[in-house]
Amino acid sequence: MMVRKGGTRLDKVLRQKYPYWVMVIGFFMGFVSSWALILGLKRGGTSPVYSFSPSSSARVGNFSATGFANAVDKVYVINRDVCTDRWETSKRFAEAIGVELTRFKAYEPTSEELLNPPDGISVRGLKHDFLTTGMLGVYISHRRIWRLVVENNFEKVMVLEDDVFPTNQTWLHLPGLLQHADEAQEFHKKSWHYMFLRRNALGNVKKEKTWSLSPLGHPVTIATPSWGTAAYIISLAGARYLWSASKEGQYPLDVQIADIQKRNEDDFVTLSACWNDQFQPRCPETVFKFEKEDQGDCKRSGTQAGSRITRATLKEKLRELDAKL
Ligand SMILES: *[C@@H]1O[C@H](CO)[C@@H](O)[C@H](O)[C@H]1NC(C)=O
Ligand SMILES: *[C@@H]1O[C@H](CO)[C@@H](O)[C@H](O)[C@H]1NC(C)=O
Repeated sequence: MMVRKGGTRLDKVLRQKYPYWVMVIGFFMGFVSSWALILGLKRGGTSPVYSFSPSSSARVGNFSATGFANAVDKVYVINRDVCTDRWETSKRFAEAIGVELTRFKAYEPTSEELLNPPDGISVRGLKHDFLTTGMLGVYISHRRIWRLVVENNFEKVMVLEDDVFPTNQTWLHLPGLLQHADEAQEFHKKSWHYMFLRRNALGNVKKEKTWSLSPLGHPVTIATPSWGTAAYIISLAGARYLWSASKEGQYPLDVQIADIQKRNEDDFVTLSACWNDQFQPRCPETVFKFEKEDQGDCKRSGTQAGSRITRATLKEKLRELDAKL
């Protein structure tokens, strides 16, 4: 019975931390595909196997350097109108490898909306010390992207904030990474929802269980609660889940997602694609942050920007508004 046998083998992989043959194959594949990348880039995409071509119809990873640009349905970059340099930098990195970006114009709430946010979001239970229009804007923007995923029935999209970009290696291995993560759904008997490409883990990453393997043989783990909204991949199931699970704005979005992870461990399946067998916060191996000079006038976190109201004032104003009704 081949199926049973396959299951047992996968079972073993998922229990053992790094079976030696995975390391061997992983290393070999990494070596081969790194060369494929280098050759592909050098040759400017003339050879079918080595071409670094985004238009290839090959979506899945047989470890050739093709098809990575179609691995997700869209790559959204959340960008505020004032941050033109960040958008130009994102485009420059994307154009160098032929990835198409979709700019998502960041939602910029008015200060009135701090008391009365759109999209059915409630900030009445705010637990963070303060709320800024920047923080609310981040919240609304990501949620609207999730809504777009649901409305368009996208299978998966990548979401990037406009000061980071996946490394070339991440792009190269993206099709295989996603294929393996999808295949593992059958084994785990559930869908994955959210894949961190960058994060600050709050728990012990050494205790994380393996979900699948990256094409390089690194474990893709089931993520402990983590802060990370700068770069991630969300599945249709994930977008559906988060759209309704994130209506209560209590914290900045990254903290809010970590909180949703804590409270819904079994329902909200988050993965980490950081190659965290040598975990480094923020996963510099997966995603890099732009240099200061590439960010122009927008060097600070958008979350801190804009009008600000403290939690106490917010609650007082909401009480006043309620009294008037
Ligand atoms: C990789 O997959 C694509 C599409 O399935 C196929 O055309 C190509 O020949 C494969 N390459 C190798 C080296 O197996
Ligand atoms: C990725 O590869 C392309 C093509 O060789 C190169 O132009 C670009 O600078 C690389 N990007 C990074 C961030 O190294």
